[in-house]
Amino acid sequence: MDVFETFERRHSVRSFRPDPVPTEMLERIIRAASLAPSAMNEQPWRFYVTTGETRRRVGEAMAHGTTHLEEFIDVMGPELHAQAVQWYSELGNAPVVIVCTMPKTEDEFWRLNTHLSIGAAIENTLLAATGQGLGACNITFSLYVRDELAKTLDIPEDRTIVAIVAVGYPDEAQPEPPAHRSDVAVFLD
Ligand SMILES: Cc1cc2nc3c(=O)[nH]c(=O)nc-3n(C[C@H](O)[C@H](O)[C@H](O)COP(=O)(O)O)c2cc1C
Repeated sequence: MDVFETFERRHSVRSFRPDPVPTEMLERIIRAASLAPSAMNEQPWRFYVTTGETRRRVGEAMAHGTTHLEEFIDVMGPELHAQAVQWYSELGNAPVVIVCTMPKTEDEFWRLNTHLSIGAAIENTLLAATGQGLGACNITFSLYVRDELAKTLDIPEDRTIVAIVAVGYPDEAQPEPPAHRSDVAVFLD
């Protein structure tokens, strides 16, 4: 798939077929992530690729996080709230969840650099998934349960979870993807 076609095709996928994803495909995703640019080539990312029992435990932790959705119920309304509870509890039955971590830092400059670097790596995972016919969704809602998740996965104390990425084969029930605006740049000569 041409890279521009991959950009066009990538959308957040939130419901998946139960089929397992071959390890080689996951390795390509991680390779793509590891090729992302990073500030001073720090390559601050470490990924925890969870499947099977570990994936189930990640799901359990995420389900605990849904109590935080009550904070948003006024903005969301009851229907969206119920949908969100279901989504975060099940993660669309994604067979794979990649947990993305970075080193903890108090330094604002490094935090900025690290977030941007990991964002680039995550985008590479999304594109590498799309390019292989998979679907993926970047999720920062994991923030609410990051300590529980870190414990579950035995993530070292000096690292923190930035986001998780649900990965799998998209099922048939994909909604119309949201529009992306085109009036986002000023060209100056
Ligand atoms: C930094 C970041 C955080 C996101 N967090 C979530 C999230 O917690 N839950 C979720 O369902 N989607 C999340 N998304 C996906 C966005 O909702 C999605 O990218 C956006 O609505 C545009 O839709 P598209 O990806 O299908 O083009 C996140 C995306 C980004 C870039």
